[in-house]
Amino acid sequence: MYEKYWKQMGDKATIVIPGWQSMSYFSDVKNLCWFLEPEFAKQIVRVHKVVGNALTEGRHIVVGTGSSQLFSAALYALAPQDASNPISVVSAAPYYSCYPLMTDSIKSGLHKWAGDAKVFNKDEPYIELVTSPNNPDGFIRHSMVNRTGGILVHDLAYYWPQYTPISSPADNDLTLFTVSKITGHAGMRIGWALVKDVEVAKKMTKFIELNTIGVSKDSQIRAAKVLEVVSDSCEQAGGSEHVESFFHFSHALMTERWRMLREAVKRSGIFSLPEFSSAHCNFFDNKLGSQPAFAWLKCDGDDVDDCESFLRRHKILTRGGKHFGVSPKYVRISMMDREETYDLFIQRLSQIRS
Ligand SMILES: Cc1ncc(COP(=O)(O)O)c(C=O)c1O
Repeated sequence: MYEKYWKQMGDKATIVIPGWQSMSYFSDVKNLCWFLEPEFAKQIVRVHKVVGNALTEGRHIVVGTGSSQLFSAALYALAPQDASNPISVVSAAPYYSCYPLMTDSIKSGLHKWAGDAKVFNKDEPYIELVTSPNNPDGFIRHSMVNRTGGILVHDLAYYWPQYTPISSPADNDLTLFTVSKITGHAGMRIGWALVKDVEVAKKMTKFIELNTIGVSKDSQIRAAKVLEVVSDSCEQAGGSEHVESFFHFSHALMTERWRMLREAVKRSGIFSLPEFSSAHCNFFDNKLGSQPAFAWLKCDGDDVDDCESFLRRHKILTRGGKHFGVSPKYVRISMMDREETYDLFIQRLSQIRS
């Protein structure tokens, strides 16, 4: 959905990498994360400062092949290495459908998926994944296990101004971010973690070393350029040139998509959507609502038990609630597809009536 913006940017975000460049495994041998490109690290710090969504001071940056690799690295680093049983990993339902699959994919002796954080009551150590705004339902979240002492991993993939008001800079022990949801460059496969504890950061780096001996330099250099253009656009937007910041563009696009969706849902009479309260966004300096990257749609009618199958019959592909640990009456719909696909989706949804 952000292709149009990047087309408008033309050569501003183009990079050329000569054949002799970036050949070594190493990026910065003196850094804890020795495969982190210094220019990429610089642009991460800059974009967080420009947007105001996370503190970077006193944090170690660990780069990963997408935040997916960093998720596995975080579990590896946080799980006690000498425990007799794998540590429980939980997240409040509805949770991101990849968490259970990724946690248990290699049947590690270190960690195991233990389901919904809201009902976890075992008197044993645990890791809680806090996704905010949440995938799939878009709500702002905090830890939900009803006791202290858990280890928290914050997945803030969607904590950017086009999706949700930026109320304060995140200040967590371990926070994950990904280029894919900020700028749309999912195919670069680049994410980063901001990590307070040096030993945890070292272990995460070790995991990536054992897993892929580092992270593509080409991708990091490209990601650095794209983030640089984003930060430049925000700084220039305040000036006299009539430059539109990336977040003004993407926020306006999401506003329009959510307007279209809410209108179609209202007309249908059989679906409902979450309602979000507004909050002050420090980035836009305005009171704004949320407009998540996914729509968490509910089929309200008694005669529809499986909303995913129901919508498939109307040629709309979604992901059903059971993947996210809840009822099949819910489905997750991507709000981030290309314009033609999104328009077709709204057109088809508008034809469904109670
Ligand atoms: C909450 C959340 N975390 C992580 C990811 C994965 O991000 P990446 O593309 O960086 O691996 C996604 C992708 O959908 C996501 O929704």
